[in-house]
Amino acid sequence: MRNFDEATITDAVLQRVRTAKDDRIRQVSEALVRHLHAFVREIEPTQAEWEAGIDFLTRTGQMCDDKRQEFILLSDTLGVSMLVDAINHRTPQGATETTVLGPFYVQRAPEHPLGADISGTMEGAPLLVTGTVSTADGKPLAGAVVDVWHSDNDGYYDVQQLDEIGELAMRARFRTDENGRFWFWSIRPAAYPIPHDGPVGKILEAQGRHPWRPAHVHFMIAAPGHQTLVTHVFAAGDRYLDSDVVFGVKDSLIREFASTPAGTAVDGRVMTQPYFHLNYDFGLKAETEARRTEERAA
Ligand code: BEZ
Ligand code: FE
Repeated sequence: MRNFDEATITDAVLQRVRTAKDDRIRQVSEALVRHLHAFVREIEPTQAEWEAGIDFLTRTGQMCDDKRQEFILLSDTLGVSMLVDAINHRTPQGATETTVLGPFYVQRAPEHPLGADISGTMEGAPLLVTGTVSTADGKPLAGAVVDVWHSDNDGYYDVQQLDEIGELAMRARFRTDENGRFWFWSIRPAAYPIPHDGPVGKILEAQGRHPWRPAHVHFMIAAPGHQTLVTHVFAAGDRYLDSDVVFGVKDSLIREFASTPAGTAVDGRVMTQPYFHLNYDFGLKAETEARRTEERAA
């Protein structure tokens, strides 16, 4: 086959990729060709625009290293990460809703005892975080691993300022007690712009968009027999709740960071200054037999 033109090229490419032996690769390749060709037909790029597109993708790749994943940031800001998340968590059924992981998660954060203050040397308004972890039908889960991380009061994560602060802070892992409870102290996080000094920042600017996320605390919660929950809790009243640059906000994930006067806090700590209190009760979805089989096979 040869002499392809505007009218025949799409079918020719589709026929070529249909030889894929793997059904899923064939399905994905066909969809990619159909949608990519439709996109090009719709926008009819000039040769210079096509080159600019290739250059953008090249710069996006070149921005990636073991600390920066510009392609995930692109996926996040185009709403693709949240679409994939929604497709994979269609039926919360009493379980807490999910949202994006984000680039600031660190595996195996230090484990702390319940009630620890994880703010390290960071300054800011004290924040008490309390909550429970239960099954989707409300039975407390003892020993669940609650992995938390959040920004400081200027909107920076520890990993963005490790050279200055020298150690991880505002992140930790806890284990729920026999009643499924957890609690810890930290500082109140602020809203922040996602890293926007690269190609994604440039495209946000060109699209007339801001790079901000509303203040939030990240949670990743794991318990045997349950699907690991990846979510955040957002601060009620934040000005960016309706324009989160990565489309991650859901009503069920918004809570008051309640301003509380000095005095004895619910965990018995005597506070000589006012503090904020965030409480959230999480529900984990049971892992399905199908998912367990899939994981065993992988
Ligand atoms: C975050 O919340 O940490 C985050 C999520 C997506 C992109 C950038 C940051
Ligand atoms: Fe975050």
